[in-house]
Amino acid sequence: MANVKVAVRVRPLSKRENAEEGRIIVEVDNKVAKVRNIKVDNRLDGPWDSREKIVAFSFDYCYWSIDPEDPKYASQEVVFQDLGTSVLSGAFKGYNICLFAYGQTGSGKTYTMMGTPASVGLTPRICEGLFSRQDDYSEQPASCRVEVSFLEIYNERVRDLLKQSDHKKPYTLRVREHPETGPYVQGLSQHLVTDYKQVVGLLEEGIAKRITAATHIHDASSRSHAIFTIHYTQAILENNLPSEIASKINLVDLAGSERADPSYCKDRITEGANINKSLVTLGIVISTLAQNSQMFSSCQSINSITSEGDSSPVGSHTTGSVSGTRRQAYIPYRDSILTWLLKDSLGGNSKTIMVATISPASSSYNETMSTLRYASNAKNIINKPRVNEVRPLPRLYYLHIF
Ligand SMILES: Nc1ncnc2c1ncn2[C@@H]1O[C@H](COP(=O)(O)OP(=O)(O)OP(=O)(O)O)[C@@H](O)[C@H]1O
Ligand SMILES: [Mg+2]
Repeated sequence: MANVKVAVRVRPLSKRENAEEGRIIVEVDNKVAKVRNIKVDNRLDGPWDSREKIVAFSFDYCYWSIDPEDPKYASQEVVFQDLGTSVLSGAFKGYNICLFAYGQTGSGKTYTMMGTPASVGLTPRICEGLFSRQDDYSEQPASCRVEVSFLEIYNERVRDLLKQSDHKKPYTLRVREHPETGPYVQGLSQHLVTDYKQVVGLLEEGIAKRITAATHIHDASSRSHAIFTIHYTQAILENNLPSEIASKINLVDLAGSERADPSYCKDRITEGANINKSLVTLGIVISTLAQNSQMFSSCQSINSITSEGDSSPVGSHTTGSVSGTRRQAYIPYRDSILTWLLKDSLGGNSKTIMVATISPASSSYNETMSTLRYASNAKNIINKPRVNEVRPLPRLYYLHIF
């Protein structure tokens, strides 16, 4: 079992926030992010000394990315060294991994996940790491296969970002659920890649097709949730027998959470409602899972005091308790396409990392607090990752590989 790991990243003040002479209300101290509520702060330049004015949240990682001159500045490389390398080492061991960025619109999700040509983000760096596997991951496979897919969820519909669109046909794919391997997108194109250059080519192709639009906060706002999936399959020799370890890496750049603005055109409002539907469902799934996990750990500690008996696994709809009457709440994965597709990453067979991105400005106080509460909840989710082995390979394949 493994808790969802949560990182917070604070971006620089934007031009707009600078023009408004926005005050910085966020502070990062090692693994703690502190937010000051200036509405209750009368002494504007005084020290941060009142408890009501400051709320502190602790996370697995906190990144201060405001000023490159600052000694604690966290660059794209620093973020990769923590989060990207842990994605890679998990994938090399054969776990499913999910890394997703969540936060207010314009807070730095796409910057963190994709980056810019001058400042490459996590997704391309992880792909590069797959192909330049470091020596410190000692057991090298006999061979490996990398296949990628790239989809977006726009207005609760799934679109393939790597397929030529045929305008005559409706451009929507169906989500189905396999009894063993879980939810998947029917007909989503899979692309075999053999080097980093090919992956970057596909990433760029997909990013160019992804829907973005100008909003009042952000002129290149992602209007869809994007999932870049890497199927990484390693052929290994175990006890001199050929077998496979297959891991799936989901790299998710969500659309921003935002309030509906009446001055928007109808398209932006419809998009906003659908973006929020997925994000609201994600929030419900996260908080229900967190409650269930807490219930499970408190039942476990009571059980370990009262008896040495067995306990039910997390994720079953009913869990053991002292009286046997407490039930785990139902998780509404299927209420949105996003949560359905990420079912395994949330409470299932996956190691999962969430990056919560925030603005440091006072004008974003409410959104920042809501993102940090959301992220705090996610820390409590307990997943059940397992190494996805070992399918004996047919003899023909064995001869082909070795
Ligand atoms: N850590 C950072 N360092 C420098 N610039 C950043 C950082 N994070 C974000 N930015 C800049 O802020 C702007 C908004 O970032 P980004 O597009 O990543 O937001 P987003 O969270 O994806 O927004 P949306 O939800 O609307 O898609 C971009 O111009 C981006 O380059
Ligand atoms: Mg974005």
